[in-house]
Amino acid sequence: MDIRKLSGAVGAELTGLDLNALTDAGFSDLKAALFAHGMVVVRRQSLTPEAHIALAERFGKIDTNRFFTPVATHPMIAEVRTSPEMTRVIGGTWHTDHSYDPAPAMCSILAARELPPYGGDTLFASMTAAYEGLSEGLKSTLRSLSAVHSDGSFAQSRVGIEADASAHRAPALHPCVIAHPETGAPCLYVNGDFTENFVGWSAEESAPLLSYLYAHATRPEYSCRLRWEEGSVAIWDNRLVQHFASADYAGHGRLMHRITVEGVALEGFN
Ligand code: SIN
Repeated sequence: MDIRKLSGAVGAELTGLDLNALTDAGFSDLKAALFAHGMVVVRRQSLTPEAHIALAERFGKIDTNRFFTPVATHPMIAEVRTSPEMTRVIGGTWHTDHSYDPAPAMCSILAARELPPYGGDTLFASMTAAYEGLSEGLKSTLRSLSAVHSDGSFAQSRVGIEADASAHRAPALHPCVIAHPETGAPCLYVNGDFTENFVGWSAEESAPLLSYLYAHATRPEYSCRLRWEEGSVAIWDNRLVQHFASADYAGHGRLMHRITVEGVALEGFN
């Protein structure tokens, strides 16, 4: 397997892997690259739904998203679909998948199925680079804080998602700076879609610092941009990165298949 970094802080393109016939050694290299780069993309794959599920199950138990429309033939796979008439897209804001759960998803595996003729890129930002880029004073303050994460934003009308009220759960609390469960690396862990407030702070008190952190965390130097091609499969670690789907292909459709894999409860970085 060869690795080509996509930017200084996050993302790598892997070559020399066939995801339909991944060996144990290939999987171990892929997993190491994921933890090193936060997001990896493998191109020119003909990933079958069965191989998509099998790949996810090598990482852990599949965490079927309770809000997304499942693929009819393979309900463990979620559809991320944009129809041509839609002007907004699923995931069109910076976020971390499933941070509203007590044990948030460890990784997401997204396979391109139908792509627009241009646009529809996905951006990724490194939450380790974002943390490292803060002042020592703010790092120390954030290490002492936890935040409330809620799936409440799915109650509002979110494009392409049919929210079933019974799917909502109580909010989850996570440290604002987590230790990556595999490597121990510090990661800033607040995001604009699901973080509501710092524990012990009101939403109004939290908003200015959260807004600062969201803008800081997604600076260009902490991020990369993934241009999808037919056959591209991307995997990202939701503890290491946030991501953003670009809604810049109005009038065209896009269909991706996503599987998320269960993670563990998150611990703070000290
Ligand atoms: C997502 O937020 O998981 C969707 C990303 C994308 O469609 O590019």
